[in-house]
Amino acid sequence: MGEIDPAFIQSTEHRPKPTFVEVGEIPIIDLSESREELISKIGKACEDWGFFQVINHGVPCEVIRKVEIEAKEFFEQSVEEKKKVKRDEANAMGYHDGENTKNVRDWKEVFDYLVENTTQVPASHEPHDLELRTLTNQWPQYPPHFRETMEGYAREVEKLAYKLLEQISLSLGLVADKYHGCFKNQLSMVRLNHYPPCPFPDLALGVGHHKDSSALTVLSQDNVGGLQVKRKSTGDWIPVKPTPGAFIINVGDIVQVWSNDKYESVEHRVVVNIEKERSSIPFFFFPAHHVMVKPAEELVNEQNPARYREYNVGKFYANRNRSDFQKRDVENIQIHHFRI
Ligand code: OGA
Ligand code: NI
Repeated sequence: MGEIDPAFIQSTEHRPKPTFVEVGEIPIIDLSESREELISKIGKACEDWGFFQVINHGVPCEVIRKVEIEAKEFFEQSVEEKKKVKRDEANAMGYHDGENTKNVRDWKEVFDYLVENTTQVPASHEPHDLELRTLTNQWPQYPPHFRETMEGYAREVEKLAYKLLEQISLSLGLVADKYHGCFKNQLSMVRLNHYPPCPFPDLALGVGHHKDSSALTVLSQDNVGGLQVKRKSTGDWIPVKPTPGAFIINVGDIVQVWSNDKYESVEHRVVVNIEKERSSIPFFFFPAHHVMVKPAEELVNEQNPARYREYNVGKFYANRNRSDFQKRDVENIQIHHFRI
């Protein structure tokens, strides 16, 4: 990544603004607090920010550390080596170098793997096409215990994701396990992100602004920083300060629909760093492909009617996947397309 390729040039939105903005803080929530405290804090954070950090989350720090080390070892290999596990149109899992968005590239490289290997998804986004295809993880030869390390990490973070989903359900007044069944044969995946230093930080973004289409995202970031969240009340971009050992949690599109807009999936992006590389590891918690997403019946009534028509998780996924590969012409599918 030497000369800047025009495809990396993102909008000017991330260049520093001359005016001073007062910076708020993304809440940090201690998961060892009492149940009532926790439910109310999580509910408030979801409403006010759509983002929060958690500490005392139960995932051992050695497990996180090991993933960080092995991810670094993987990315330090030559491009030829990494391309041996490159993703393609048939199988979206594996390595890619940021070519995933439509007209602009992200300044990063990525390795994706599924939490449940192997997972079925619809073969196409066409509503009447009932064919399924199988996504399979691809594992590199090096580092030697990569697969074991990554699978162990996924199991730990999955437990945390279920716990958080329970708290979120309770905070909405739903039963704790309301949505557990949706995650049998889940499409959840872990992404290892590597953001190399960028000599043109004003021209590129690590990840352009977007919302996550997951139910929840559980993200671990190193101490470099760069993630920014769009503050709902003012529209300013607020940096998420790295907190050692914490996970960053954000509400995804699916929780937005389940909650009938009580909790919103918030825009976020990653700015690049001129001298330091950065790593982050999101876990995208996704239901199974056959799940139909719609507002919880318990939350809708005459005064608060459903704001979304139901949509199918797998078809949404297939549509996104298609727009990744057929760049320019296809607009990314969004939940607002299902708004009533
Ligand atoms: C993402 C994302 C944030 C980060 O991959 O969806 O928002 O800090 N990543 O890397
Ligand atoms: Ni994201």
